[in-house]
Amino acid sequence: MSKLLRFLALLLVSIIWLSSCGGGSEKTVVKNNLSALSNKDRQYFTNGRTLYQSLCISCHMDSGEGLGKLIPPLKASDYLLGNVPAVSRVIKYGLKGPVTVNETEYNQPMPGNPRLTNLEIAEILTYISNSWGNEHGPVSIAQVAESLKEKNN
Ligand code: HEC
Repeated sequence: MSKLLRFLALLLVSIIWLSSCGGGSEKTVVKNNLSALSNKDRQYFTNGRTLYQSLCISCHMDSGEGLGKLIPPLKASDYLLGNVPAVSRVIKYGLKGPVTVNETEYNQPMPGNPRLTNLEIAEILTYISNSWGNEHGPVSIAQVAESLKEKNN
C-alpha cells in the first residue's frame, strides 16, 4: 500500500514538473527594438506599452497581429511603418473606409482616441513601431504635433 502511495506521489510530482516545463518552452520570445532607443525613448516605449494594453490590444492583439480579415496587423504593417508619424491621426481621430495593409484590404471603422495628448501618441507610436520585429526607431512629440498640426497640446 505505501509503495502505491509513494508511486502516486512521484507521479504527481512528475506531472507538475512536466507541465511547468511545457509552459515555459511555449513562451514566445518577444522581439523588440529597444537597443536602438535612448533612455528617454525607452521610457516612451514602456509608457506606450501600457497605453497599448488599455486602448489597442483588444483589437490589434498582444502580438500586433490583428484579427483575420477584420483588424489589420501592426506587426510588419507596411501602412504603419510607411506612415510614422502620420498615423498619429489614425490613433487620435480613428479611421473609416477601405485601407490596404500588406496587400489585404480591410474595411471596418476604428474608433479614435481624441483625448490622448501628443506625448501619449508619441509613446504609443514608439511602442508599436519598435515591437514585434518593427524597427522604426524613436518618435518625438514634435513629430506628432507636426502631423496633427496642433502645437498647443
Ligand atoms: C475597436 C477595434 C480597434 C481598436 C480598439 C483600435 N484599432 Fe486600430 N484599427 C482597427 C481597424 C478595424 C482598422 C482598419 C480601419 C479601416 O478599415 O479603415 C485599424 C487600423 C489601424 C492602423 C492603420 C492600419 C495598420 O494596420 O497599419 C493603425 C496604425 C492602428 N489601427 C493603430 C491602432 C492603435 C495604436 C490603437 C490604440 C490606440 C488602435 N489602433 C485601436 C481597429 C481598432
